[in-house]
Amino acid sequence: MTTWTPKSWREKPALQLPNYPDADALTATEAQLAKLPPLVFAGEARTLKARLANVAEGKAFLLQGGDCAESFEEFGANKIRDTFRVLLQMAVVMTFAGGLPVVKVGRVAGQFAKPRSSDMETLDGQTLPSYRGDIINSIEFTEEARIPDPKRMLDAYHQAAATLNLLRAFARGGYADLNKIHKWNLEFVKDSPLAERFESMAGSIDETLKFMAACGITSETVPAIRETEFYTSHEALLLPYEEALTRTDSLTGDWYDTSGHLLWIGARTHQAENAQIEFVRGIHNPLGLKCSPQMAPDELISLIDILNPENEAGRLTLIARMGAGNVEANLTPLVRRVKEEGRKVVWSCDPMHGNVEKSFSGYKTRKFENILSEVKDFFAVHKTEGTWPGGVHFELTGQDVTECTGGAYQVSDEDLANRYHTACDPRLNANQSLELAFLVADELKAFQKSA
Ligand code: PEP
Ligand code: CO
Repeated sequence: MTTWTPKSWREKPALQLPNYPDADALTATEAQLAKLPPLVFAGEARTLKARLANVAEGKAFLLQGGDCAESFEEFGANKIRDTFRVLLQMAVVMTFAGGLPVVKVGRVAGQFAKPRSSDMETLDGQTLPSYRGDIINSIEFTEEARIPDPKRMLDAYHQAAATLNLLRAFARGGYADLNKIHKWNLEFVKDSPLAERFESMAGSIDETLKFMAACGITSETVPAIRETEFYTSHEALLLPYEEALTRTDSLTGDWYDTSGHLLWIGARTHQAENAQIEFVRGIHNPLGLKCSPQMAPDELISLIDILNPENEAGRLTLIARMGAGNVEANLTPLVRRVKEEGRKVVWSCDPMHGNVEKSFSGYKTRKFENILSEVKDFFAVHKTEGTWPGGVHFELTGQDVTECTGGAYQVSDEDLANRYHTACDPRLNANQSLELAFLVADELKAFQKSA
């Protein structure tokens, strides 16, 4: 293999990258970005890798989730808090059921660039270049707005920095204290069918905390009760941005992409000879790789050879996104082969990207029942193959949107128009997310009982 450098991807065929019309502006922006401070520290990425190694070994579970695409428009403290809160609630539900640590990773603070199936988009007879995420162009449907603008990378960087700052404060500053569990529940779950179930679990946790406090174990004495670890992730798509934030770690001398803790490769850019694969193979962050139904076992093994040549547990998370009904047929051969070859990976289930459909009303949506069915089949395959169903990957928001149909609250096709706010794919709302967490928790419990 050729020598890797942060810019060696430039020698490879690149898919899904924008053509910036103003090359000088691009170079100037890259230089500016390269001078800005890292967003995350290499040491944090190493800790996440160690946590994921536990997942690979069946001793922990991964919860990854957030927006399909973060947007400049939706950016704000409440939105960040609500996403953090729903992930925290989901993690507690899963921890409680599974008796395992849950590694929390947001699709956040950098999840801006989107791969598109088509370069062009047609609306009311007009055809324009596709929207590629706020870090590249604008969702507004005008010729001008769709021109890729490199300066958007700086806006995305600053939004990511502010987002991370607040997330770090929430994670360490007392918001995540388990003694506050009833407070996380207060607003949106209050009137939902899930309230009782969450409150009853929170009651049991309260009792446990009281007992522990009587034994001298309190949030003052044990940081794990008052703080949580929360990591960031996004798709490693827009390589000029990723390269500019790639730095050598002063402690180890290794390269890390400091734009986020975990970077993943999407289903459209995972060709072995492709620029995105070239880029991520040289960084030491934990990596994700989306596996679609077309992925053949041989192809997967050659990608693992490139991405995790030393077979390091925690380095690679395989995120299967097969679509409801395809899981048994398409995931089984991959899981089996990876196991036969003794490759150490985390298996995670993305039940979102294989289940997009158009609603009668014309909205891009996903059915809750299909999402759930894919999750269940994922657990079933791992049960049969004797492997660990390591985690789940969701597109969700802590807010009360109507983008996916179904769930206990029954968002209907007609409801989609009410609060359809996503900049890209439809997300689970807070209630649907929590409901899914309970259903995943049931699967986790059943899996452990039968293991
Ligand atoms: C995504 O995760 O938003 C995405 C585009 O997924 P995939 O690459 O699996 O289609
Ligand atoms: Co998406």
